[in-house]
Amino acid sequence: MSLPHAKSESYRIFDAIAGRYDLINSVLSFGLHRLWRRAIRRSLPSRPGLTVLDLATGTADVALELIRSPRVDRVTGLDMSQGMIALGRDKVQARGLSQKISLEVGDAQRLPYAAASFDAITMSFGIRNVPDVLACLKEMHRVLKPNGRTLILEFALPQSRIVRAGHLFYLRHVLPAIGRMLSGHATAYTYLNQTIEEFPYGQDFTALLQKAGFEKVQFKNLSFGIVNLYRGDKL
Ligand SMILES: C[S@@+](CC[C@H](N)C(=O)[O-])C[C@H]1O[C@@H](n2cnc3c(N)ncnc32)[C@H](O)[C@@H]1O
Repeated sequence: MSLPHAKSESYRIFDAIAGRYDLINSVLSFGLHRLWRRAIRRSLPSRPGLTVLDLATGTADVALELIRSPRVDRVTGLDMSQGMIALGRDKVQARGLSQKISLEVGDAQRLPYAAASFDAITMSFGIRNVPDVLACLKEMHRVLKPNGRTLILEFALPQSRIVRAGHLFYLRHVLPAIGRMLSGHATAYTYLNQTIEEFPYGQDFTALLQKAGFEKVQFKNLSFGIVNLYRGDKL
């Protein structure tokens, strides 16, 4: 099998591992991914009747979390991988939520939506995979309504030297081995490790959000700083 390495091809890796993605996610995050998704839901704007766009929605776990909020009316999920979207659709249908969640195949850098369409946009562990990060953030800003909010979950490196050293050991040595075993894919989880170490986080990422036009930009560390939740508003 030829293995895509360029970010523009990263969705193909997700196509290849889609059937095992949820299991691997639970194992590699020790179940913490549930807490991280909950943190997104709790940071949504406080008004009712929200329509939310979830980018890089994958198998729709974030979309399914968001719709649990009484403030959310509808969620649209978008992802480049047909395989991930197909699994997501099965999950949405099995929960009887097809009227409230719709899933579409598409590119987060070129959103097929009119300006000012959504009250909130979420993206969980997706922005790292997008080749043109700034283009994607600008698109998010464009399709947000005024008073809208974007919420982005992404991996980071902890500030504490000891926690950081332990986490880097996990990322470089443990995670690729477990990922390879569970996915049956030679490089999918090596790629994960490389992208986490290279991707801007903390103030470097909030600077990109500001460059894309977001205001009141902030972030908070989750799980000792191995993940950050970024927030930016469109005024
Ligand atoms: C690590 S998964 C995250 C899935 C889900 N958000 C979650 O938290 O479980 C990353 C997803 O980004 C998608 N992706 C990669 N490049 C993309 C792009 N340019 N536009 C939309 N989705 C993309 C992949 O297909 C994959 O489903």
